[in-house]
Amino acid sequence: MKIIKSAGEMQKIALRVRQKGKSVGLVPTMGALHEGHASLVKKARKENEIVVVSIFVNPIQFGPNEDYLRYPRPFSKDKKICKSLKVDYIFAPEVKDMYPGGQLAHISVSRVSEVLCGPLRPGHFKGVATVVAKLFNIILPVKAYFGAKDYQQLKIIEKMACDLNFPVKIIACPILREKDGLAMSSRNQYLTKTERENSLNIHRSLKLGEKLIKSKKIRNSKDVLNKIIPEIKKIPGSKIDYIRIVHPETLEYISKIKLPIVIAAAVWIGKTRLIDNIKVSNKL
Ligand code: PAJ
Repeated sequence: MKIIKSAGEMQKIALRVRQKGKSVGLVPTMGALHEGHASLVKKARKENEIVVVSIFVNPIQFGPNEDYLRYPRPFSKDKKICKSLKVDYIFAPEVKDMYPGGQLAHISVSRVSEVLCGPLRPGHFKGVATVVAKLFNIILPVKAYFGAKDYQQLKIIEKMACDLNFPVKIIACPILREKDGLAMSSRNQYLTKTERENSLNIHRSLKLGEKLIKSKKIRNSKDVLNKIIPEIKKIPGSKIDYIRIVHPETLEYISKIKLPIVIAAAVWIGKTRLIDNIKVSNKL
């Protein structure tokens, strides 16, 4: 496994690999790797000759009062995880290498970026789309792997790749959860023991929503949300950013439920903002 720090060097390697006709699978991450990330890497390993994991805490996707400085950066541990997963290259650039002269060119994906987390985290998805586009151009992957944990991000990247004709296939991967249901996240380590226990209620509430919809008792989003929201409000120290029922592709808010739909939530537990979602479809 090679660790590449320079964007120029990474691009040279990628061009050489492409010339040899080898397929590259990319897993973009911000590090602090856990089983959720590992599931993406395992899938990439199965489907490609060369696997690249990028580790870069991207400053332009964090707001001024967000956790950019506090975001965990356990690079030695991440290296070990990547090695055990038989990754070929870790691309771990410095900020000054990714943004040498500031960044004047950006990518914004309208509509799908303007709902859910969009209005609450101004500039966030522009920062995500821009860094992912840069990674695509540096690493030249044939396939790139994204988790449904960040459902809105996944849809934005799919739309960007489609609308801008990036020659890369976006592979959506399911959410990995802890045994008790909590969606795995690098930010879970911010939680105290009590907060960690309390945060389980987010997933439980989404499951309740799924149950109500599947039992066909409730067909109105408002009625479903009126059952879920009080459950989340009961969590000590919680603050709801949003809980919405949306169309799985357009992310438009839905009033009359017609499957499939996604119930998406962003909830603060103390000083930690957690996101989770559940897709409800007709499939068993
Ligand atoms: P990060 O939060 O490190 O996540 C990297 C990838 O892992 C994302 O595609 C995310 O959806 C996926 N992932 C995280 N937790 C998961 C889980 N429990 N189950 C399945 N997949 C999971 O998302 C980012 O980094 C950044 O925004 C990035 C795309 C790298 C751009 O900077």
